[in-house]
Amino acid sequence: MAIDIVVTADAEAAAAAAAALLADAAAAGGSIVVAGGSTPRRAYELAAELNGDWGDAEVWFGDDRCVPASDLRSNQLLVHEALLERLIVPPTVHAIPTGLPPESAAALYDAALTGEPLDLVLLGLGPDGHTASLFPDAPSLDVRDRLAVAAEPGLEPFVRRITLTIPALESGRHVVFLAVGEGKAPAVRHAFAEEPSRAIPASLVRALRGRTTVILDEAAASLLDRA
Ligand code: 6PG
Repeated sequence: MAIDIVVTADAEAAAAAAAALLADAAAAGGSIVVAGGSTPRRAYELAAELNGDWGDAEVWFGDDRCVPASDLRSNQLLVHEALLERLIVPPTVHAIPTGLPPESAAALYDAALTGEPLDLVLLGLGPDGHTASLFPDAPSLDVRDRLAVAAEPGLEPFVRRITLTIPALESGRHVVFLAVGEGKAPAVRHAFAEEPSRAIPASLVRALRGRTTVILDEAAASLLDRA
């Protein structure tokens, strides 16, 4: 399955490239799945500057940690601070109900997502090749009949997670990975230049019927063979 790899000079340019896609999807009134972690923060800030009116858009979460929305580990907190609070007109936000028991939260999110077309799915990449909260060799990689599940953490923060499953992520019309920094270079090579493997969950996630784009800075792309 073909993927487009976009290599930018530095992390700021990578964030700007992702921000443009986010802002355009929001302007088109799309359903956007946002990523957690630290990498997308700058992209969210720039996207809010590019387009302050997300009134026709819907925002979903690719995953979240089972902590209160005020907890520094919460992806919901990240997205509120870096994006939602900076908008003039906010989108419809579908937060993962992380205050509920994980299995209940996952079941509710699975039901909410059912039948919802996803236009832009933004994903990060962990140094171990995980994406969303789909960790290496985890049982969640085999789930094909649900769009969201509870998951055990494979990396810090070691709190339980709710994550979209591969069927949910691959349904996206445009799947976009954003990864920067030399620390991600091995995972980038495994995920996007080698055979798919359960050891590298990001290698298993591609848009099934749409486009897959990988946005990297030079450092994260440094182990790719680029003719
Ligand atoms: C999360 C993210 C996760 C993240 C990677 C990379 O909840 O942590 O969804 O998949 O994208 O762990 O995180 P960094 O951007 O912090 O390196």
